[in-house]
Amino acid sequence: MSLLNEIELLKQAALAELKAAPDLAALEQTKGAWIGPNGKFTALMKQLGTLPKEEKPAAGKLINAAKVELEAVLVSRREDLELKAALPKEPTDFTLPGRRRTLGKLHPLTQVTDDIVRAFRKIGFVVADGPEIEDDYHCFDSLNTPADHPARDSQDTFYVGQASSLFPNCESDPSTSTAGAGWKPALLRTHTSSVQIRVMKSQPPPIRIIAPGRVYRRDNADATHNPTFHQIEGLYVDKNVTVSDLKGTVEFVFKELMGSDVKLRFRPHYFSYTEPSMEIDFTSALVKKLGKDWLEIAGCGMVHPQVFANVGYDPEVWTGWAFGFGIERIAMLRYGINDIRLFYENDARFLRQF
Ligand code: DAH
Repeated sequence: MSLLNEIELLKQAALAELKAAPDLAALEQTKGAWIGPNGKFTALMKQLGTLPKEEKPAAGKLINAAKVELEAVLVSRREDLELKAALPKEPTDFTLPGRRRTLGKLHPLTQVTDDIVRAFRKIGFVVADGPEIEDDYHCFDSLNTPADHPARDSQDTFYVGQASSLFPNCESDPSTSTAGAGWKPALLRTHTSSVQIRVMKSQPPPIRIIAPGRVYRRDNADATHNPTFHQIEGLYVDKNVTVSDLKGTVEFVFKELMGSDVKLRFRPHYFSYTEPSMEIDFTSALVKKLGKDWLEIAGCGMVHPQVFANVGYDPEVWTGWAFGFGIERIAMLRYGINDIRLFYENDARFLRQF
């Protein structure tokens, strides 16, 4: 038999075998047997050299064309077999109920924060942010909080190291540091009030911001305390700002948040960065249901002139109010939650309810 005939016969046999390969493994084996380095088809190529000169071009052409055809059949068969391997072995019952994917939800504290932010945005406030690791300048000194203030005590504040290694340009005053001269402590912020300073230092008045965020205090966890919790700070600076602006704003936001039956009460208090300073008490049908007349909910006051001076605002020109309240407390009231620790346990049975 001539080589040309042989090529055609071998090709037909190879095609038949490739097309009949029952699975991917068999297909690869068939490929090796025919067109691999030791395959029968490859052996044919080697025989080319033994042909008379004038027959070589025709035979070479035929072999190449056959190889191309075999490669194409190989690829198409491989695709078919791959698809077959991916399909379910058992017939599919399309009448079975589907598998429902459970949807995630926002954490109740995030929901409450979003609602507070939404209420403030309605009256022109923007959200500001600041670092959770602070230096004592932003957390205390600049807020007119003296070195002997109890908040500076390591019983109340988490100190985490040298501020200068975290804030290369930190402005902490070493002479006021309780840890000794030269030591500029870095700490976990004990309140969001530090954001007031960062914002005022970075822009000229007027200012209308709220700053929600996480704060830290050395507390043992119990039903109403946790070493990590959340606050929202508010700061309004402009000309001729009065206490009635503060009361009107806070009242508007609480009515948006908790319903129109809420009542607020402002009680004199002391904070070193406001003068006068007040605490805000809150009551509603819900509070009464808890068997209480009033619940303390926030600290606030008119920004102290010294704080303005510290950030380079002229206290003779600018006036303002500030407040800070705890987000957990509001969320607990709103949802009737009696243990703050539930917020942090990430128990899906708890979180699913909100
Ligand atoms: N920083 C205070 C706290 O953590 C709350 C507070 C009181 C914030 C008075 C203020 C303020 O901005 O003016 O208890």
